[in-house]
Amino acid sequence: MPVLAQREFRVLYPLTESLLEQLAGADRVTYEHSLHVAGVASLLAREMGLAGEERVLYEAGLLHDVGKLHVPRELLFTRRVFGPSDRLEMQKHVGYTREILTHCRYPRTLVEVCCQHHERLDGSGYPLGLKGSAISPGGRILAVADVFAALVAPRPYRGALSPRQAVEILRQEALCGRLAAEVVGALVRRLDECCGLCGVRAGV
Ligand SMILES: [Fe+2]
Repeated sequence: MPVLAQREFRVLYPLTESLLEQLAGADRVTYEHSLHVAGVASLLAREMGLAGEERVLYEAGLLHDVGKLHVPRELLFTRRVFGPSDRLEMQKHVGYTREILTHCRYPRTLVEVCCQHHERLDGSGYPLGLKGSAISPGGRILAVADVFAALVAPRPYRGALSPRQAVEILRQEALCGRLAAEVVGALVRRLDECCGLCGVRAGV
């Protein structure tokens, strides 16, 4: 598994390896996305002076979407545009991530960070609709890393966006009060490295 070999850190918890292997076998796209998010999120933590959070964010990036193991395969791999019921079904992956990580006895702080990656500062996110300070610094960083990594990667229903287009969307999300402006700023300052960590070329 060549991408595993490129990982920056050893994982903190032995179970992470086996969960990642399961994810790689079931859903290669989510597995690779998780590696990208781990790299970007830990870099952003360092850039923001949260060096103590770096390892936790790396591990959270690897694990945040592990709940997709329980999402029906036909939904994971569909090429159709999602309807409302598909979206609700897909959103359940966060709850499944919580179940898996809690069952595996991961520390509560790590589980919370993982489960906040779709929360938004204005309360428009899911699963809890958390607002503002209810979202941890780690959750805010993971959200930005997740959106960036997703946008610069191709999806069955769209091509990959350029890093410049992705940054424009992140800036809009920050302006609208959904993503943390200070995290988006950190990503812009380290854009070349974030692109490299997602396997895309910067400057386009
Ligand atoms: Fe997710």
